[in-house]
This record gives sequence, structure tokens and C-alpha cells, in this order.
Amino acid sequence: MQIYILTLFPEMFDSPFSSGLFQKALDKGVMKVDVRNIRDYTHDRHHTTDDTPYGGGAGMVMKPEPIFEAVEAIKAELTQSGVTGELPIILLTPQGRLLTQAIARELTQYNQMIFICGEYEGVDERIREHLVTDEISIGDYVLSGGDLAAMVVVNAMVRLLPGFLGSPESLISESHTDGLLEYPQYTRPPEYRDWAVPEVLLSGNHAQIAKWRENQSIIRTKQRRPDMIKRAS
Ligand code: 6GU
Repeated sequence: MQIYILTLFPEMFDSPFSSGLFQKALDKGVMKVDVRNIRDYTHDRHHTTDDTPYGGGAGMVMKPEPIFEAVEAIKAELTQSGVTGELPIILLTPQGRLLTQAIARELTQYNQMIFICGEYEGVDERIREHLVTDEISIGDYVLSGGDLAAMVVVNAMVRLLPGFLGSPESLISESHTDGLLEYPQYTRPPEYRDWAVPEVLLSGNHAQIAKWRENQSIIRTKQRRPDMIKRAS
């Protein structure tokens, strides 16, 4: 999977993409990430990427030209190298559809995609109308820009790609996959400060363990996320 990220702050992506499992995924070639500075697609002396809103009001709006040109440059490169297939162009914005595990999974069906990180008060509406194919938000709160949101979406996606996880099984049982939260986990020691690991987990009885875990998942989801229970499979 080839990911392009268009941002005004490419340096923000350095450390999240160079640590832990994510770094490993990039090294293994599970995903390729190309972070590009929108400013590189400006032509004026001051490399202007934003301007005041027509009609007045507070804040700045991202100009259409550099973003259109950046996307068109990527499209041309892809065509040049013989890449066909759909190319979703995704704007990160608090107005987008709310990210879920299902959406993360949906995005993994594409071999390439472009993320546009909106900043300031937003982007010129013509970017939405004539360039972007999808809009995603990561929650009902406002961030100063779409960069962190892009990292969240890409992170949620990469761990679903073949070759990312040592054991694909850990995807099956994890929170949100089946619409329930994950059951409690324990490791050694069997007793720590008088707190014992639930007996059943030490029993070696796999059927009983599976039953206990399913039960715990349901209890936990009811307590913490009653909204999820109605939708759970
Ligand atoms: Cl995608 N962008 C911004 N600026 N704020 C957000 C968001 C995105 N998702 C939640 N809050």
C-alpha cells in the first residue's frame, strides 16, 4: 500500500513513523508513506498556502491551487509508473465521517491513497467539491490540524495489512473487531501483591477460558460502552 500525505508540517510525521511496530512495517514494506509539503507546490515568492476568507470572519483558509497541484503531481507520477486502480483522496476534517474500525478496514482495500491534512479554519470549499473523494474525522473534538488525525487513520490501517502482525489471531479478538471490547488480560506472576489471576485462566481448559472471555467482553462492553452493545454481532 502506497500512502501520500499532504501537509504543511511534514516534520510532525517523523517520530510516529520512526518508532515501534510502525517503523517495522515500513521497513518490511507492508506500507510506503510519502509525506509531502503542500508549500512545495506554491509558486509565489512567499510560498503562500492560506488566505483570508471571502465574506470576512476569523482565521485563515487553505488556498486551492497548491493542494490541487500536489494531488495532480502525484496522479501524474502514478500514471507515469503504470499504476492504475482507484486513488481515494481523503480530507482530514472534523466535518468528515467518524473513523471506526470498519472504516479503517474499508480503506485497506485500496493500493494507494492520498491524505490531505487541513489546517487553520479549513480549506477552500472547491477542494471538497472537486478534488476530495472522502472526508474523515477522528472524533467529536477539534484539533489544530488534520496531521494527528492522518497519523491515527494510517496507524489504524497499517496494523490490518497482511504482514504487519506476527499473529493475525490478535486481530480477531481485539476490541472493536466484533463490536465488543476486549476481555481482561493477565500475565505472570500468577499472584502479585495478593492479587491473583482468575483461576480459570490457569486451568488449561480452553473451552472454559473462551467462555469466560466472551462473558467478560460482554460485561465490560455493557458497563463501559452500552452504545456498542446494541450494534454488536
Ligand atoms: Cl480530521 N481534523 C481536525 N482539525 N480536528 C479533528 C479531526 C480532524 N478529527 C477530530 N477532530
